[in-house]
Amino acid sequence: MLERTLGEDIVLKFDFAKDLRTIYADPSMVEQIVMNLAVNARDAMPRGGQLVVRTSAADIDAQYIQKNPEARVGQFVCLSVADTGVGMDAQVLGRIFDPFFTTKEVGKGTGLGLATVYGITKLHHGWIEVSSEVGRGTHFKIFLPASSKQIEPSVNKPADQVVRGGKETVLVVEDEAELRLLTRQILECYGYRVFEGATGAEALKLWPQHAQEIDLLLTDMVMPEGITGWELAEKLRIEKPELKVICTSGYSVELAKMNLDAPAGIRFLQKPFKPQSLALAVRECLDE
Ligand SMILES: Nc1ncnc2c1ncn2[C@@H]1O[C@H](COP(=O)(O)OP(=O)(O)OP(=O)(O)O)[C@@H](O)[C@H]1O
Ligand SMILES: [Mg+2]
Repeated sequence: MLERTLGEDIVLKFDFAKDLRTIYADPSMVEQIVMNLAVNARDAMPRGGQLVVRTSAADIDAQYIQKNPEARVGQFVCLSVADTGVGMDAQVLGRIFDPFFTTKEVGKGTGLGLATVYGITKLHHGWIEVSSEVGRGTHFKIFLPASSKQIEPSVNKPADQVVRGGKETVLVVEDEAELRLLTRQILECYGYRVFEGATGAEALKLWPQHAQEIDLLLTDMVMPEGITGWELAEKLRIEKPELKVICTSGYSVELAKMNLDAPAGIRFLQKPFKPQSLALAVRECLDE
């Protein structure tokens, strides 16, 4: 698949470490990381070049952390993607993970590729290192924790079961742009259709036109402006009583209490959540 994406002028090389530790990750999301990086590399090498995809073990110690405060001590797996393309200057480099930042022409890039890579990496408790030199090329390194005890157990359900997806439509309301994008990506990976809004007001604007199609509302409970996720859910359920609702929040105590006497069709999901936990909550709520 990569080869086809890259075209004939780009030489693709793989270098996978033998006996690599396993990582605890969503395979489709890791694939998405490689794909987004490879597509960028292709765009950076209009006259051809070389792309090297490599995996290696990385033991991160305290000394390493001093160089990169984002890193964490422990055993990691490094996924590296290096191209011999046009490279980036410091100014571009400083903004590449911003959602919607692009240097490509209108219609060519949306600027979400690396924001997604960043989001997925964060979700897996990893980090990214980039080096680039104008005219020489760019090297991305994605560090993902090796699976041992480094990942805290899911607060929801065991995440290693295979979760069924679906074709239903979900309205995602979340004020944090990165998380909203990520949530969308996860749900789309599982086959769902997604509408999104940054605020309750945005969701309400979207609602009249799409009320018919929307099966589930996935909303942050606490939002900075206007109505809360809870108020939004109540409003929409008056118009469409069969609408399923999942409220997300980072406040676990609050959530634990609320799940006990939640009305039918309404669930609570604690943030941060793993992709599988989200997919599971959505599936279960829809099937209720
Ligand atoms: N391998 C690379 N070499 C040179 N520049 C890059 C590379 N990867 C990313 N960039 C720069 O970072 C910007 C942001 O990349 P990102 O993938 O987020 O968005 P995009 O490729 O412009 O659009 P999209 O991925 O949404 O189609 C790019 O527009 C480009 O300027
Ligand atoms: Mg891109």
